[in-house]
Amino acid sequence: MSDPLLSVRNLSKRFGGVVANDDISFDIAAGELVSIIGPNGAGKSTLFKTVCGVTPPRSKRGPDSGKVFFRGRDTSGFAAHRMCEAGLALVFQETEPLKGMTALENAAIGALVRTGSFHEALRLGGQALERVELGHRADIMVDELTLAERRRLEIGRALATEPVLLLLDEAMAGLTPTEVQSAVALVQRIAGDGVTVILIEHVLQAVMAVSQRIIVLDRGRKIADGTPSDVVADPAVITAYLGSELSNA
Ligand SMILES: Nc1ncnc2c1ncn2[C@@H]1O[C@H](COP(=O)(O)OP(=O)(O)OP(=O)(O)O)[C@@H](O)[C@H]1O
Ligand SMILES: [Mg+2]
Repeated sequence: MSDPLLSVRNLSKRFGGVVANDDISFDIAAGELVSIIGPNGAGKSTLFKTVCGVTPPRSKRGPDSGKVFFRGRDTSGFAAHRMCEAGLALVFQETEPLKGMTALENAAIGALVRTGSFHEALRLGGQALERVELGHRADIMVDELTLAERRRLEIGRALATEPVLLLLDEAMAGLTPTEVQSAVALVQRIAGDGVTVILIEHVLQAVMAVSQRIIVLDRGRKIADGTPSDVVADPAVITAYLGSELSNA
């Protein structure tokens, strides 16, 4: 088998006394579409940020212990801009488009990772908007976009960085079931274009529709990693997460 695209090895991350990620290991092969699920506070977003070199306030960059390998290189502790240049893009759970700018200008900011020319960035940003079906909204100020459009724009801006690995943290939160369906189709199209995708998602309809594999976190630890049908039948997963999630559905 060829080397994994992403390899997380015994990764731990603490915030004071809170162990947000506890000895987590997994591999992601090129071309995979994987979801990470788990209850609130399980450590999902922390895992993404630690892998991407995003440093929360009063925390050091990268894992406290363990390692991250991306495209065969040890990238543990790399800064976020270096990870982005290396081909990894993250859409944050908290991300909002930059206000006072158009959709196209927002997408173009992503492309500035690849070009120093603003003119070229606008061209690449325009292509990224087409990929997320927002081409017709290019000149609209972001404040006027709907929630679903803003979520697409975030994905578009990430695509404009030309990632080989795209991490989406709850990109479907708050969408209607119809909007979730089109977001699922979008994720499948992106994957079909050859981008490896990892989703953090609470929307189980989406998780079950797209995932080739599901990793489950609970209280900082990985408690399951397998095919969707195996994971949803796993008693530990039902106890930790799916029981409450299904009864809330
Ligand atoms: N910057 C930070 N400073 C201190 N504690 C933090 C920080 N970020 C996360 N935590 C803590 O780490 C734990 C994991 O949080 P994280 O945001 O990674 O969970 P999550 O699985 O993404 O949850 P959710 O599903 O609610 O988004 C929580 O206890 C959280 O309070
Ligand atoms: Mg989170």
